[in-house]
Amino acid sequence: MSADSLMIVGGQWGDEGKGKVVDLLSAAFAAVVRYNGGHNAGHTVRYADRRFALHLVPSGIIHEGVRCYLASGMVVEPTALVSEMDRLSSEGVSVEGRIALSPRATLILPTHRALDGAREGARGSAKIGTTGRGIGPAYQDKAQRRGLRAYLLADPIRLREHALPLMEEHNRELKTLFGAEPVDLEAAMQEITTAAARLAPLLDEVGPALRRHRAAGEPVLFEGAQGVLLDLAWGTYPYVTSSSCLPGFAAASCGVGPRLLGPVLGVMKAYATRVGGGPFPSELDDATGEQLRERGAEFGTTTGRPRRCGWFDAVAARYAVEVAGIDAVAVTKLDVLDGFETLKVATSYRLPDGSTLDTFPADPEVAAVIEPVLEELPGWSSPTESVVREEELPLEAEDYLRFLEAKIGVPVVIVSTGPRREETMVRGDSDLAQQLRGVIEG
Ligand code: IMP
Repeated sequence: MSADSLMIVGGQWGDEGKGKVVDLLSAAFAAVVRYNGGHNAGHTVRYADRRFALHLVPSGIIHEGVRCYLASGMVVEPTALVSEMDRLSSEGVSVEGRIALSPRATLILPTHRALDGAREGARGSAKIGTTGRGIGPAYQDKAQRRGLRAYLLADPIRLREHALPLMEEHNRELKTLFGAEPVDLEAAMQEITTAAARLAPLLDEVGPALRRHRAAGEPVLFEGAQGVLLDLAWGTYPYVTSSSCLPGFAAASCGVGPRLLGPVLGVMKAYATRVGGGPFPSELDDATGEQLRERGAEFGTTTGRPRRCGWFDAVAARYAVEVAGIDAVAVTKLDVLDGFETLKVATSYRLPDGSTLDTFPADPEVAAVIEPVLEELPGWSSPTESVVREEELPLEAEDYLRFLEAKIGVPVVIVSTGPRREETMVRGDSDLAQQLRGVIEG
């Protein structure tokens, strides 16, 4: 690959298969950077017949020689990061000296986790369906300017001085607002201090390191977590995560200029899924939805929850392309659609008054009542599973991909036809496709 950097973002509601795409490409990059979210993410990578589930550590870790960065815009639970590093080590992945954590990242404390659960419980049927990892409460403390930042991990005395009063405040909130059990603060402090000793050596400013990579002509891969429709500002608010999932946030999170980021590759499944609550216009509540869930093994990597499934939503996808500035798309799990006689794609939305809408509405009450207008396409008679050459795709599958391209307005440059690394093809002759082909096939 040329020395271009590359940005990978989820183009739907997360779980698009970003882990596989990042893994596929990352050997060609000097560095892989996570810039948003925390261990709510679940990126699955299959390598040499083994499966790795990553939550905080960038997917590039599987490749020896790739340096991994956790940037300031992330929320990091110290024990979760230590457990993930230990698990990777026990699976034979070398982590020592390969991970840098921004001293400006925000820490998730055990009381954030408890607050996440208590707040969700109090919302009842209007719950967001969070991953329960304390993501929202930690970002809230960051915005309130009382959050703890990772530099404190290097100083156990100051860490305690800052963490205890904040957790005491959280405990008061837990007790008085939610009638919940307070967290045992001594046990919590013990947990944090033990993890801090392991993580202190990882602290390093991310921006200067990325500028050094670029000055040396080394390309950097940015790995977005979640997806555009879960973005705090542009997703289906309030049913979103608490961070920005858009490419532009990577610059702010890393402390680098936007020119350093490179083209944006959006990852989208050939159909659609979401976990948790919130609008999902093309959702299928029937046997077809069940078939997609079974065939696609649509159960969360982080929580194990069954994912809601539906047809590909081209309105939501085009919206994602526009707000995130996606240059090209990687379509994953095409093989999951094998065997369907006909396929449907949402191409506009109908409002209860009969009018149509061709973009995603801002108001969740409107989003909750729109009906998808579905266009039907023929399924394919021969399987796409494991097909790796574009010319071997059944004609109907190629037509399906062309239909998606026409509706979303950018080319589909990667198609994934199975979970393994080899089950991937690069499509077309755009500059980006040629660069990606060089990486994947070279
Ligand atoms: P939180 O990020 O745990 O606060 O959860 C907020 C919403 O984002 C919920 O609907 C979660 O299911 C969803 N979410 C968070 N992380 C992911 C992810 O990595 N994949 C898919 N959904 C996610």
